[in-house]
Amino acid sequence: MNTANKNAVITGANSGIGLALTHKLLAEGYNVFGTSRSGRIDDLHHDNLRVIRLDITDRNSVNAATAEINTTAKKIDLLINNAGVAPDVFAEEPEIGAFMETFSTNVYGTVFFTETVLPILNSGAQVIFISSNMSLPRNMATNGPAYRMSKAAINVYAMMLAQRLENQHIRVTPVHPGWVQTRLGGDQAPYTTERSAEGIFKAIQTNEENGKFWNVMAGSIEPY
Ligand SMILES: NC(=O)c1ccc[n+]([C@@H]2O[C@H](COP(=O)([O-])OP(=O)(O)OC[C@H]3O[C@@H](n4cnc5c(N)ncnc54)[C@H](OP(=O)(O)O)[C@@H]3O)[C@@H](O)[C@H]2O)c1
Repeated sequence: MNTANKNAVITGANSGIGLALTHKLLAEGYNVFGTSRSGRIDDLHHDNLRVIRLDITDRNSVNAATAEINTTAKKIDLLINNAGVAPDVFAEEPEIGAFMETFSTNVYGTVFFTETVLPILNSGAQVIFISSNMSLPRNMATNGPAYRMSKAAINVYAMMLAQRLENQHIRVTPVHPGWVQTRLGGDQAPYTTERSAEGIFKAIQTNEENGKFWNVMAGSIEPY
């Protein structure tokens, strides 16, 4: 795929996996709309990068960000829904505050940001959701109730969206990025953000399935 002059939107581009993906997409020739809550991405300046202020849980912020993207780009070829939180990964019992934060970001924010961007997706575009293998039934365990359930909900949304957008030739893929050294993943994680970004980019470049779960560690689709 020739990626020169293609337009990508990536949420949470200021940190962790999102920042590494932003570097990777710029290196591959994309024009990148990288979002951050502060409206800044420190230490990254590039002619093909436009930083957009966005809090995906805030309707006004979502509308303003999408309008700004639309004014500049008209059409988007790649949407990467990367922004996410995981406040309860070490907890076993559901806690209301953690559920509210996790579902408003990982589910409500992600779903309604995606819906707002859909009208400006090109035919042939791709939508990637950074999910987690913690959401898969065969990996179920007792920790992280809100986090696991939120990513399972996103897998379901991805499968539904894949069917809705099929006749526009838009491919939708939930991706497990590996266990990655980030604020969210912690220092013990085995994967660097660069390695994860390479793996996610391989999914973008090579995956021809629609609505299926891609595992960066396996480098392929795997069953839900
Ligand atoms: N690291 C792992 O091992 C791992 C494994 C599986 C899945 N994931 C997924 O990978 C994605 C990226 O996480 P990461 O590991 O790179 O962690 P990270 O460094 O903490 O990055 C999370 C990003 O999401 C942004 N974000 C959070 N809430 C937001 C909101 N309401 N609106 C807009 N942006 C928001 C953060 O912005 P601020 O900087 O403003 O907080 C930050 O840019 C997440 O969806 C996570 O669930 C990570």
